[in-house]
Amino acid sequence: MEVIITPSAREASAEAARIAAALIRGKRRAVLGLATGSTPLGFYDELAAMHARGEIDFAEVMTFNLDEYVGLGPDHPQSYAFFMREHFFSRVNIAHWRTHVPNGLAVDIPAHCVAYETAIAEAGGIDLQLLGVGTDGHIGFNEPSSSLGSRTRLKTLSERTVTDNARHFASAEEVPRHVITMGVGTILDARRCLVLAFGKQKAAAVAAMVEGPITADVPASALQFHAACTLLVDEAAAAKLKRVDYYRWVCANKPAWQRA
Ligand code: GLP
Repeated sequence: MEVIITPSAREASAEAARIAAALIRGKRRAVLGLATGSTPLGFYDELAAMHARGEIDFAEVMTFNLDEYVGLGPDHPQSYAFFMREHFFSRVNIAHWRTHVPNGLAVDIPAHCVAYETAIAEAGGIDLQLLGVGTDGHIGFNEPSSSLGSRTRLKTLSERTVTDNARHFASAEEVPRHVITMGVGTILDARRCLVLAFGKQKAAAVAAMVEGPITADVPASALQFHAACTLLVDEAAAAKLKRVDYYRWVCANKPAWQRA
């Protein structure tokens, strides 16, 4: 896994946006896997700013979001569909039909999950999957003990995630207990993964993801199997990594052709 440590979340978000923009410029019909949470907000701001300056065109881009709360429709302010419209889709030239977020109101959830996987495959697969990490090491909503080969499906949130995400709701009781999430296997199928993690509350999960054993106990650790995964972290989230000197050395000694 490539580990890039930046002085602050702002630099990491700018670098992640630069990587996404380079992909879109090289492939107009790029397929992006997108994430929610507080972590990618700077990334979306950067992409929206690049779009406003006329630097990226999203007209032919397609997107698939990682996850959604069961029971929340797209007009619920805490739904991820609402989040995506507010923080990204409404700020760039992407048609609604080209964006996909799992339907939290699906009547037949297993059938909806199969259809979501089929839609990703029919789009040609995900070129770039953006990811955050939960403090318990989850990616998407794949909580500890998730199968590392899992596909899009219903999951029950851990108590820790309910507590972590309660800050977005009036109380912890209002946080839905169930979600639809891409599986770890779905995520690993993306051609490139870009993980963002900021702040000291993520330091333990980041260390377990990058340097710990590969285990369903830390679903993010499955990314060690991915052939093209880049982690962008600020200093605080990197604080528990053991090989920081090596990661910095690799960045400082990158061949010129890799810097492009
Ligand atoms: C949420 C989302 C994840 C996100 C993570 C971290 O519950 N399902 O996709 O990466 O938890 O959230 P935050 O970025 O707010 O710390």
